[in-house]
Amino acid sequence: MSLVELDLGDDPDILGRLDLLSMPVETRILTSADAPVFWTLRLEALVEEPRSFGQSAEEHRAAPVEQAVARLRASSLSGDFVLGAFSGMQLVGNAGFYRLPNKKEIHRGHIWGVYVTADHRRQGVGRKLMNELLHITRSQPGLELINLAVASHNTPAQRLYESLGFQLYGRDVHALKIADTYVDENLMVLRLR
Ligand SMILES: CC(C)(COP(=O)(O)OP(=O)(O)OC[C@H]1O[C@@H](n2cnc3c(N)ncnc32)[C@H](O)[C@@H]1OP(=O)(O)O)[C@@H](O)C(=O)NCCC(=O)NCCS
Repeated sequence: MSLVELDLGDDPDILGRLDLLSMPVETRILTSADAPVFWTLRLEALVEEPRSFGQSAEEHRAAPVEQAVARLRASSLSGDFVLGAFSGMQLVGNAGFYRLPNKKEIHRGHIWGVYVTADHRRQGVGRKLMNELLHITRSQPGLELINLAVASHNTPAQRLYESLGFQLYGRDVHALKIADTYVDENLMVLRLR
């Protein structure tokens, strides 16, 4: 669609927002300096998609930004990380990875918190984040498989994970309880070797 075909309506900021939408998206590992924007995007994810994440927005609001600073700082030391997708200066998506340090569990990695803000979806940002996350993790010594859980109703995310080689291996029934409703989660695994 060209700009002349657009109905710009009464929104004086629309050209600025269109500029932002057309910027290339770059990924990088977040550092503690990114904690404020990460905290804000995480809150957006929990408010907008409560059935896709275990933590509630209230719990997140109660956790100060300092906790996010500590988490991102600790991550950089352990090999865990949160990957961010930036459109210019704006954080528009993220995806987290961690391993438990226990001897009997360290061969497994876990993906959490995959989110792309609504106006940047369906433009390859989620795939870019996941591809880069997998690229980084493949160089980690001793990592044999990666697990994730995805709400059973969440077809977009499931399709993305399947396209990257994740396989369904189980179902966590009533994994989440939100008021009187339940969310089942599909359990997926990517075998690296
Ligand atoms: C799931 C999510 C991260 C995908 O991000 P995205 O940037 O829109 O994804 P992409 O544009 O990179 O698309 C990658 C693939 O995902 C699948 N997909 C994405 N959106 C889809 C949709 N609306 N319907 C069906 N498949 C979809 C497709 O397989 C797509 O590949 P294709 O473009 O070759 O068809 C995003 O929809 C999101 O943040 N959703 C809300 C939070 C969430 O559900 N997180 C996952 C928690 S486990």
